[in-house]
Amino acid sequence: RSRSGSGRGSARHVAVIMDGNGRWAKSRGLPRLAGHRRGAEVVRRIVEAAPDSGVSYLTLYAFSTENWKRSSEEVQGLMELFSIYIRREGKELKRRGARVRFIGDRTRLNRDLAEQMGRLEASTESNDRLNLTIAINYGGRDEILGAVRRLAAEIAAGRLAPEALDADAFSAALDTRDLPDPDLVIRTSGEMRTSNFLPWQSAYAEYAFVPETWPDFTPELFARACAAFGARNRRFGAAD
Ligand code: IPE
Ligand code: IPE
Ligand code: MG
Repeated sequence: RSRSGSGRGSARHVAVIMDGNGRWAKSRGLPRLAGHRRGAEVVRRIVEAAPDSGVSYLTLYAFSTENWKRSSEEVQGLMELFSIYIRREGKELKRRGARVRFIGDRTRLNRDLAEQMGRLEASTESNDRLNLTIAINYGGRDEILGAVRRLAAEIAAGRLAPEALDADAFSAALDTRDLPDPDLVIRTSGEMRTSNFLPWQSAYAEYAFVPETWPDFTPELFARACAAFGARNRRFGAAD
């Protein structure tokens, strides 16, 4: 299976760095959590709209391994929001034919939340209209190190030959093993950095940095970013 598309075409896998909830709230004199709450509503709208742009894999960055540095109030609030989101949207996602997956290290999450995540994954396993992946306590370096540790143990135990470790075998050791590489990564709120999101998987992704904050992001802006992607010429290192 080819992990990337080629040339021009529609973005099959779009990954989104949902940034700017705090700034959205601050500019309105609201607490940061109000921005996160509004952000969760935007998630619902973008999930609904994504298939209209030909997207079959949508991956959302909800909480990074670095986001624990925030106040315990904000971290707690975000964790509660994830739980509320799963409770409220779980049925609807199932009904819409979404297959939900979570990537990131679950061992540091509250057990109830981790269980909710596992149940939603199990109950949507047979769906295939949209593959929705939510990154919670996800960090690209953390993911890569985890894979390296497991692979190194396999090699040390004599179960894996070092020569057998190629790009496909490495990809298969990551949390994203069941996903194609992202074609397009969108980041809202104007920051031009990737903040540890899918570094291995996005090696040949196209990027779209949009100025709107995540709570102000709309299905129209999403569709526009996807359409602009379709006009780009991806060469993957080839001459044309
Ligand atoms: C993105 O919005 C949501 C998370 C990182 C959880 P931010 O909370 O980073 O918002 P800004 O960047 O401070 O505006
Ligand atoms: C990236 O946004 C993480 C998520 C969107 C979940 P951050 O706001 O945490 O990234 P930095 O701090 O601007 O790099
Ligand atoms: Mg931010």
